[in-house]
Amino acid sequence: TMQDVRRDHERLRERIVAGDAAAISRQHALGKRTARERLDLLLDEGSFVEIDLYRRHLGTGLKLRTRPHTDGVIAGSGTVDGRRVFVYAQDFTVFGGSLGEAHAAKIHKVMDLALATGSPIIGLNDSGGARIQEGVMSLHGYGGIFRRIVAASGIVPQISVVLGPCAGGAAYSPALADFTFMVRDTAQMYLTGPDVVHAVSGERVGHDELGGADVHGGRSGVAAFVHDDEVACLEEVRHLLSLLPSNNVDAAPSAGPCDATTDLRPRLAEVVPVEPNRPYDMRQVVEEVVDDGEFLEVHRDWARNVICALGRVDGETVGVVGNQPSVQAGVLDIPAAEKAARFVRFCDAFGIPLVTLVDVPGFLPGTDQEYGGIIRHGAKLLYAYCEATVPRVQVVVRKAYGGAYIVMDSRSIGTDLSLAWPTNEVAVMGADGAVNVLFRRELATAADPAELRAELIAEYAEALMHPQYAAERGLFDDVIDPAETRAAVAKGLAMLRDKRAEPPRRKHGNIPL
Ligand code: COA
Repeated sequence: TMQDVRRDHERLRERIVAGDAAAISRQHALGKRTARERLDLLLDEGSFVEIDLYRRHLGTGLKLRTRPHTDGVIAGSGTVDGRRVFVYAQDFTVFGGSLGEAHAAKIHKVMDLALATGSPIIGLNDSGGARIQEGVMSLHGYGGIFRRIVAASGIVPQISVVLGPCAGGAAYSPALADFTFMVRDTAQMYLTGPDVVHAVSGERVGHDELGGADVHGGRSGVAAFVHDDEVACLEEVRHLLSLLPSNNVDAAPSAGPCDATTDLRPRLAEVVPVEPNRPYDMRQVVEEVVDDGEFLEVHRDWARNVICALGRVDGETVGVVGNQPSVQAGVLDIPAAEKAARFVRFCDAFGIPLVTLVDVPGFLPGTDQEYGGIIRHGAKLLYAYCEATVPRVQVVVRKAYGGAYIVMDSRSIGTDLSLAWPTNEVAVMGADGAVNVLFRRELATAADPAELRAELIAEYAEALMHPQYAAERGLFDDVIDPAETRAAVAKGLAMLRDKRAEPPRRKHGNIPL
């Protein structure tokens, strides 16, 4: 009867959703949640629409006698704060979450739907990698994911969350995504595991030491966000999504205006010391500029000499890039340039206005940097700003020297509004160095070289380093009191809100990678 058919179907469904109890306890014993528990944490309650629950692999032969439903990945769609997203969560309790043909096809399906509907894609990774017993079809499945990530890049936000092993080719999903999250202790990412490393080079290294969350969050820059546990991690994914548009056509959700244009912040004058080399924490400046002092730092523990953060100004999402004088005096080096360049390009792709807070002594000198190709890597940041068409506001809060001045969203490379504090210094180089180059002969023959040097330094500083010099020439649109910074940025962004710029017709530019 109909009743029996429905009951049988219901039982089958419940059995598949329940999963293998023994495997689930093993997963829990590893300190990990199941794929479904993770989706419950990520998505609005009751919003999940599952796709391909019944899918299973069609392989035969070597170790392919069992054909579990879902094929080791839970795929579908749901909402986060009421906004549509597409998701897949690898299920380590089935074939170790390894990726075979059917598993990959399910991921391809949700990725295609995400792109078709203009919705973010979130992948929860927990997998032994390519399913060995399905041979090259597994690798083919990965390729299909990578091609889709690239096709969707800059169209819908893509977030990759690593909650278990993610080895070999699998690591390229997080690598290609816009933002990668990792959880300490349980997540590892590497191209070749500790055994292979040992076989090839004799080096002995543990899983975590090779590719744990802190390695990728602090050293390699592969992970943008690192968390102690899955609950905090998935909560932060929701927070990140709340700041992002669903795609490159829609605007990010607005929190509504909050009188930022008249909001004076006298504390700013105390945060930034007037002495050009005294360190301070640029995050305190960011706090005074964004709404409620709240912002989400991307790559907080990597390349800490530059800050990249998402926050809101007068209710609208902005991307903030700032030099960080409390780390390496805020110089730009290779990792800093790469970090900021990728952030600028993300913001530009998704229509998020950029606010750049400048306090930069220059690029880091030395053979390490030059041999490492700082010219090439610094050019990434330059390129990223040059091609950005979103509203751009630059604020020079203390100093900006040389090539680093140009790169940090200066007027010459297309900032829309450039503001400076009256205390700051902007020049080709510091007064000491400048006087030594310009007056070497005079100083060598002077009766009192020390006195002459002091005079010349004062003269140089007065004539060339004052922000008025740049303002008189239109390089700064305004010189503002520090307390007015938040209000001036908010007014600037409001002024620029309707900025439109057509990208040039070409296949694509050739950013120095
Ligand atoms: N293909 C097929 N099955 C896989 C797999 C893979 N790539 N990775 C794991 N599995 C299976 C295991 O055979 C095991 O199956 P079983 O429960 O039937 O015994 C199950 O998944 C759990 O794996 P296990 O090795 O017991 O878990 P672990 O937590 O001890 O180790 C890994 C996890 C990922 C470190 C380990 O499974 C591993 O090294 N896998 C291979 C990684 C790899 O080189 N993949 C290819 C990269 S492209």
